[in-house]
Amino acid sequence: MSLEEFQKTKKGSVVGKQRTSVSAEVYGLWNKKKAFAPQNIPKSDEIRSALEERLGQSFMFRSLDQKDQAVVINAMEEKQVSAGDSVITQGEDGDVLYFVFSGSLKCTKKFPGQDEETFLLNYTPGMSFGELALLYNTPRAASIVAIEDSVLYTLDRECFNHIVRDAAIKKREIYDEFLSKVSLLDSLDAYERSKICDCLQSTVFQPGQEIITEGATGDKFFFIEEGKAYATKNNSSGGADRVFEYGPLDYFGELALIKDVPRQASVVAEVSMLALIRFRRKLR
Ligand code: CMP
Repeated sequence: MSLEEFQKTKKGSVVGKQRTSVSAEVYGLWNKKKAFAPQNIPKSDEIRSALEERLGQSFMFRSLDQKDQAVVINAMEEKQVSAGDSVITQGEDGDVLYFVFSGSLKCTKKFPGQDEETFLLNYTPGMSFGELALLYNTPRAASIVAIEDSVLYTLDRECFNHIVRDAAIKKREIYDEFLSKVSLLDSLDAYERSKICDCLQSTVFQPGQEIITEGATGDKFFFIEEGKAYATKNNSSGGADRVFEYGPLDYFGELALIKDVPRQASVVAEVSMLALIRFRRKLR
């Protein structure tokens, strides 16, 4: 449908004396067909490769192929903010996603019935925020203020929708169903669960493969999606005793993260397919 045709439809066609309104589907169809013309904001090679490196570490962007990553980098626009500046205000409309290049920012939220803002988290380089308003077309769900002078890169709604959105939503949907069944995560709200989904990675382990080694340091936490694993602990006679077995929806590897201690046992895969998660922050 051409733009002209669409506009005619949008105004409503006259059928007898009744005016029909344009349906969301028709709009969606036209909208899809509208050519995507990404922004191209000039950047030095230095900034470009620094962005590439940082995006490669970001949960939201690292699964993009090189071509899409280049489109995203072209479209990103630098925004410098000073300590104390408000970047996002809860309740307002939003049409960009922010990617933190340098500095740090604080995220707070006013919950219904509360006068005070509740602190949620700090954003540091490599993290992104402001995706909810774009993913779900909702007002900003929290406020973000710069703690120190920071450099952000914004990504406009159109580029986000074309390049990043589908992959982000798909990943959240697939894993959310699984995580909602894990009892350890019962106390998390939907948003906290969605952030975990962003950093989940499904990995296959071969039977007999050691996933965790006793005594090593650890920054990963594992959920079993399918298959089985077992834990062993070294004994005084130089061998190892089998101390625990894990099946689907069980988890392991949490102690090193909660208590900041070396791995207390080794865990070996009995059969394939585990989902693994890497936490940036320690579990509370
Ligand atoms: P958005 O709603 O677009 O703008 C505010 C941002 O704060 C939001 O997207 C998320 O990126 C971020 N945020 C961090 N923690 C939360 C939370 N618990 N609930 C809602 N938004 C959050």
